[in-house]
Amino acid sequence: MSLLETIKERRSIRKFKRKDIPEEHLEKIMEAARWAPSAGNLQSRKFLIVKNPQLKNELSKAAYGQQSIAEAPIVIVACADLERSALGYGERGRNLYCLFDVAASVENMLLEIHELGLGACWIGAFDERLVAGILDIPSTLRPVTLLPVGYPAEKPSPPPRVSIEEAFKVID
Ligand SMILES: Cc1cc2nc3c(=O)[nH]c(=O)nc-3n(C[C@H](O)[C@H](O)[C@H](O)COP(=O)(O)O)c2cc1C
Repeated sequence: MSLLETIKERRSIRKFKRKDIPEEHLEKIMEAARWAPSAGNLQSRKFLIVKNPQLKNELSKAAYGQQSIAEAPIVIVACADLERSALGYGERGRNLYCLFDVAASVENMLLEIHELGLGACWIGAFDERLVAGILDIPSTLRPVTLLPVGYPAEKPSPPPRVSIEEAFKVID
């Protein structure tokens, strides 16, 4: 499959089979995250991999009841390392670059997850304070994305995209 085909075929998956993810798949997902670009190569991001059912239930509640989080065999909690980025880039690092560093890793993981025949959904709607409390995350890390990952139990149709003309303006 070409990279563009992988990009276009990837869908947000919110329903999962009751089946564990092989360790070698998890390693590839972590590698995909690790090799994403980052501002100044500071890699201002940290990931927690949650397998504990009780904690996944609590995370699901902190995400306003999104069931995919409770049902997935693992949930990757992607955090921005605020202080690491701030040391390099001050306020711009703290408020912006570390979020980009996480986002680049998340997209890499989503593509690798799809390539492996797994599914995931980028979850941004949750109470950060509650998530930090549930997982005992220090204040230097900001949890910004939850990624439930598992074997897909649905095959959603592609949602529409804006046209290239609408999204891009060529300036000669
Ligand atoms: C920053 C961000 C936050 C998102 N938050 C949620 C969320 O909280 N819950 C959810 O079900 N999907 C969430 N999504 C997934 C989008 O709904 C999804 O990517 C979009 O509808 C396009 O569908 P596709 O991923 O299948 O192409 C989020 C995506 C992004 C990039």
